[in-house]
Amino acid sequence: MIFEHDVVIVGSGLAGLRAALEIAPVADVAVISKVFPTRSHSGAAQGGIGAALGNEEPDSWEWHMYDTVKGGDYLTDQDAAEVLATDAIRAVYELEHLGVPFSRTAEGRIAQRAFGGHTSNFGEAAVKRACYAADRTGRVILDTLYAEALKRGIKVYSEFNLMDLVLNGGAVKGVAVYELATGEIHLFKTRAVLLATGGFGKVYKVTSNCFANTGDGVYLAYRAGIPLEDMEFVQFHPTGIYGLGVLISEAARGEGGVLRNREGRRFMEEYAPTIKDLAPRDMVSRAIMTEIRQGRGIDGRDFVNLDLTHIGKDRLAEKLSDISSFARIYLGVDTATEPIPVSPTCHYMMGGIPTDVDGRVLDERNAPVPGLYAAGECACVSIHGANRLGCNSLVDLVVFGRRAGKMIVRDLEHLERKEFPETAGTDVVRQIETLKTRTKGERAAAIRGAMQQVMTDHCSVFRTERGLQDALAELEILKERYQSVCIDYRSDSFNTDLLDAIELEYLLGLAETMVRSALARKESRGAHYREDYPERDDDRWLKHTLIRRTDRGPEISYKPVTITRFQPKPRTY
Ligand code: FUM
Repeated sequence: MIFEHDVVIVGSGLAGLRAALEIAPVADVAVISKVFPTRSHSGAAQGGIGAALGNEEPDSWEWHMYDTVKGGDYLTDQDAAEVLATDAIRAVYELEHLGVPFSRTAEGRIAQRAFGGHTSNFGEAAVKRACYAADRTGRVILDTLYAEALKRGIKVYSEFNLMDLVLNGGAVKGVAVYELATGEIHLFKTRAVLLATGGFGKVYKVTSNCFANTGDGVYLAYRAGIPLEDMEFVQFHPTGIYGLGVLISEAARGEGGVLRNREGRRFMEEYAPTIKDLAPRDMVSRAIMTEIRQGRGIDGRDFVNLDLTHIGKDRLAEKLSDISSFARIYLGVDTATEPIPVSPTCHYMMGGIPTDVDGRVLDERNAPVPGLYAAGECACVSIHGANRLGCNSLVDLVVFGRRAGKMIVRDLEHLERKEFPETAGTDVVRQIETLKTRTKGERAAAIRGAMQQVMTDHCSVFRTERGLQDALAELEILKERYQSVCIDYRSDSFNTDLLDAIELEYLLGLAETMVRSALARKESRGAHYREDYPERDDDRWLKHTLIRRTDRGPEISYKPVTITRFQPKPRTY
């Protein structure tokens, strides 16, 4: 079928829904989502949304901006960090007015807790900046925004998978989509497309990400010739449930939890003497891996303990009830009396589709691509630089989702829906036909498992030239194997086997961009730690990586970092 809307938003997490609310009063906007909206991955965010409200302790947006820039190891674009830190305060009160049930202080204000890398007075001590609803903050914000979207009659197409961007002469004219229930391919003609498709943690074996996080929007933008920015920067959250990667919120440490090694020692005191367990995630993950490598994992194994036992049963029940039930369900651990075995888990991608602070997607000349916008984890604004601070993601989604919505409304006047190419969607039809008729070949799961192992072995918390070269060579072989990927289930109805195979192309393509970008950056910065280049090198590498698909293969270039208030300096905590 052919659908027509003024604006199509792909993704129904917080960024997509917040943008839709901005556009709905003035234009016909539709949201397409590969999952039912309340299953979007924003709902998995646990610990908080960052804003310098100062409800529990003195705070200021300048300190928030500084922490974001320093947390990002000075790769953050400071104009974007200033927008984030100043607008965060308004954004949180807006959510409160929409009905988000935040936890409260005794006086009835929005409660706030400490989070990694957030400090008072430019690094003096940890500060309570994360506004929260127990440990289900993303869940309650997502439910509230979805309810608002329903109230305003926003059209949502659930379980519609993005298959391609439709371009004409460099301008985006719509999208091609696969409907899971029927197997139909639909075309959406539109004047503007906002990609809000989230991250791609499924590139790794152990991740806190949901199954849907396969980087659809990011890969399809790349396939269409748009560069990707800073793909080497991958966040490993320090506390995933050992072996499973399920998130145990940083809020656990914000509420007083501590990490301990096999000697029972609170080892973060040595790595970050000022803020200890509340150091930024890149540092804590490296510290955990160092303890493990040096034989101080629990029983000499590859995990450490997160100790919450001193927090007390009642406080755990009030503030950390979800993670306590995860520990009980997955590990049989009672957080009131026993520590939780944890290790780093792939959590967030700092890199993605380059945008300006208004969500406009930028091409290799840094010029806006007509009709194309991005917001949320799939976008690289770049607020998070080389390492995002905890609780800066939820606020990024609502601040920059809203700004993208406003920009689209402004741009609609000069964006036309006509000139939809006649060939739109034909490649997608061919791709699906090929997969459905191929009878011999290899299952997607085998190739995906091998890719996840390669990325986990060589492009994770620690990296080396040798390991990254091996990864690149192995990814080449896997891409070759992918040419004969084969599915077992051929029905048109709910064919997730087919989608798994298609999404594997996206994941393999993105893995390659990550490894190539990591190989090129010969320094250590934020989450990109090269054991062969252990120092940050501002003279040569204070710049953003761009990787672009060309006829000659992927090409890397660089663009400057925007520095306004804070000059780079050594990053200690
Ligand atoms: O640890 C957490 O609750 C995660 C929050 C975030 O990624 O911002």
